[in-house]
Amino acid sequence: MNAIVSDNPTMVSREVADLVIGAIRKDPDLVLIPATGNTPMGAYARLAKQMRRDAADVAHVRVFQLDEYLDLPPGDSRLLSGWMQRSLIDPLGIPPANVTGFRSDAPDVTAMCREYDAALEAAGGAGLTILGLGPNGHIGFNEPPSGADLPTREIALTPESIRSNAGYWGGEARVPLRAVTCGMAQLLASRQIVLVVTGEGKREILARTVAGPVTPDVPASFLQTSPNVTIVADRAAWGDLPLP
Ligand code: GLP
Repeated sequence: MNAIVSDNPTMVSREVADLVIGAIRKDPDLVLIPATGNTPMGAYARLAKQMRRDAADVAHVRVFQLDEYLDLPPGDSRLLSGWMQRSLIDPLGIPPANVTGFRSDAPDVTAMCREYDAALEAAGGAGLTILGLGPNGHIGFNEPPSGADLPTREIALTPESIRSNAGYWGGEARVPLRAVTCGMAQLLASRQIVLVVTGEGKREILARTVAGPVTPDVPASFLQTSPNVTIVADRAAWGDLPLP
């Protein structure tokens, strides 16, 4: 586990954008799994600006969606696929054919998850995964308890996640109760993982992630077991933790 601790969220965004640009430069066929949520949005905006300026080629970058709510109809404004499209896919100009997503209204969720895992494996697994940190230690929607071997699957949102997601959509009643998430096994196998964490509100859960016991009760704590993880945090989130 490595950590980059920056002064503020703007500098965190810059670090994350640079890491993604470096990864695409090194591997133009990069398989990217990008989180939605508020934390990485500054990084994505910066990334798009820089890639446009450099006229970088993203024609071969492949994107696998990290997670998606279930039970929403196509076109619903809460779809995480839409959020990913608006914040990353469109601004970067990644071809739609390169994106593997989840269907919120899938008739057979288990089959969709098996297909996703097979497609990810066929693509060689994730090259770079960008994660945010849930207030209860979830990564993607791997809610506690989630062990390291769990595959891509359906989950029920915990009350804590419903509360935190309410902020995106204007109230808890607007947050779907079920979701699909890229599995712990698939995420932890990523050749590079960047966990982006900002703000004092994440300080306690970040400390448990980095320095607490490795436990399914804090799914993000399994990141301690991977040498390929870089945490990019601001000082407000990092607090007094020693640098690894
Ligand atoms: C959400 C999503 C995650 C996201 C995390 C943190 O519930 N399922 O993919 O990374 O929680 O979100 P935020 O960055 O808004 O704090």
